[in-house]
Amino acid sequence: MTLTLKVNGQEHSLHVPRETSLLAVLRNDLALNGPKYGCGLGECGACSVLVDGIAARACVLSVAAVNGREVTTLDGLAQGDRLDPVQQAFIDAQAAQCGYCLNGMILSVRSLLNHTPVPSEAQIIAALDHNLCRCGTHLEILDAARRAID
Ligand code: FES
Repeated sequence: MTLTLKVNGQEHSLHVPRETSLLAVLRNDLALNGPKYGCGLGECGACSVLVDGIAARACVLSVAAVNGREVTTLDGLAQGDRLDPVQQAFIDAQAAQCGYCLNGMILSVRSLLNHTPVPSEAQIIAALDHNLCRCGTHLEILDAARRAID
């Protein structure tokens, strides 16, 4: 079956089984390495992408589920050479230690700000609650999220 994926503003026609995970297609077929493989179970958030502007876990989404929808990965978040404000905030806050979780952290904050431009502290914490960081840089990550608010 031919599936049409729109990723980072570009359309792709793919011939893959419908049940193939979106994460596998993004990384293996489209060479987009922003989304990371962590747990593979929808638990850690490392594989997060935006689907129609809302954070979703690409490891547990089939590619058929996003057929014809707008997918954005970390690779496509910047506008040309201008970083998304959330990316810049994470740099300014020096929120990375190993950096493996940051894809999910950044996209979760972007998703939150897409529908709640001025979130409360509780909303920020809730948005990041299911993203795991094993380095323990949670305080810097929360600082980055606060800096990203206009
Ligand atoms: Fe998808 Fe962990 S790799 S949630």
